[in-house]
Amino acid sequence: MSIPIFKLLDGHTIPQLAFGTGTALYQQNVTQPVLAAIKAAYTHIDGAQVYGNEDSVGDAIVQSGVPREQLFVTTKVVKLGEGETIPESLKGSLKKLKTDYVDLFLIHSPTGFEAPGRLEEVWKGMEEVKDAGLAKSIGVSNFRIKDFERVLKIAKYKPVVNQIELHPYVYKQLLPLLKFQSEHGILTESFGGLTPVTKKTDGPVTPVLSELANKLGGTETQVLMKWLEQKGIIAVTTTRTAARLQEYLDVYKLPNLSEADIKAIDDAGAKLHSRHFARHMDEL
Ligand SMILES: NC(=O)c1ccc[n+]([C@@H]2O[C@H](COP(=O)([O-])OP(=O)(O)OC[C@H]3O[C@@H](n4cnc5c(N)ncnc54)[C@H](OP(=O)(O)O)[C@@H]3O)[C@@H](O)[C@H]2O)c1
Repeated sequence: MSIPIFKLLDGHTIPQLAFGTGTALYQQNVTQPVLAAIKAAYTHIDGAQVYGNEDSVGDAIVQSGVPREQLFVTTKVVKLGEGETIPESLKGSLKKLKTDYVDLFLIHSPTGFEAPGRLEEVWKGMEEVKDAGLAKSIGVSNFRIKDFERVLKIAKYKPVVNQIELHPYVYKQLLPLLKFQSEHGILTESFGGLTPVTKKTDGPVTPVLSELANKLGGTETQVLMKWLEQKGIIAVTTTRTAARLQEYLDVYKLPNLSEADIKAIDDAGAKLHSRHFARHMDEL
């Protein structure tokens, strides 16, 4: 089975699994890892200006030989230089990425744009790049309900996604945000989705994952990926190893978790709150 394709509210589509170029690959040349991911069947590459490696993502796009329209490329803006506009910022990224457009352009975080009127002004710039065809879709990352409320008040186009830290140890706290997004048709992208096997390995979710991995005939990592997929969430993950690239892809060959399995993960996760990125998200 191949990677599921989700529909965005602006009519474009997005692959449910993305290869990330931050975290473990932050500030590193990612040409070889991205090439390996594309070769293994990944088409969705998640980048950001602040990862400091858009140039090497661009090299991988060119060297892969895969037609540009078969790839889905994301980048994100975290801050603007003095007097710099959003279209200018994205054009700088496109030059490094060696492409005429990105599939998805995100505001990386609202926290740099919190002054009165600033977030609204930045969103207008995001709409400009969509109208100019420099980004097919536009969205946000690390947004709370209060950030969405500011943007939605003035928006011509709604953000299509919110990319946030999402795993069982933050899921309960995020429920009001997820409900708000779902009412607006805004999809969720997760990062840090593997936290129970990477950063918080001794919590209440650990024994549940181990039991479900046995039941499904997969790994704990795959159970977490399945949990995300079945909740309709786009998984942005990464790896430095070929074996793990395949492990993530093999998720789609596994049987689905039952509703009771999903509830067991939700309930275990609700016993502990553990966030590792973007602390402002604790106040929705
Ligand atoms: N928008 C934002 O603010 C934001 C913030 C953070 C991240 N991101 C994006 O999301 C991407 C992924 O973030 P993430 O790294 O936090 O995602 P993640 O999916 O939680 O973790 C990926 C890491 O898990 C490791 N892993 C997988 N299974 C494991 C196991 N069984 N035992 C030990 N380690 C295991 C992999 O290590 P190996 O290399 O050893 O396989 C890999 O480095 C980033 O690259 C970036 O693109 C966005």
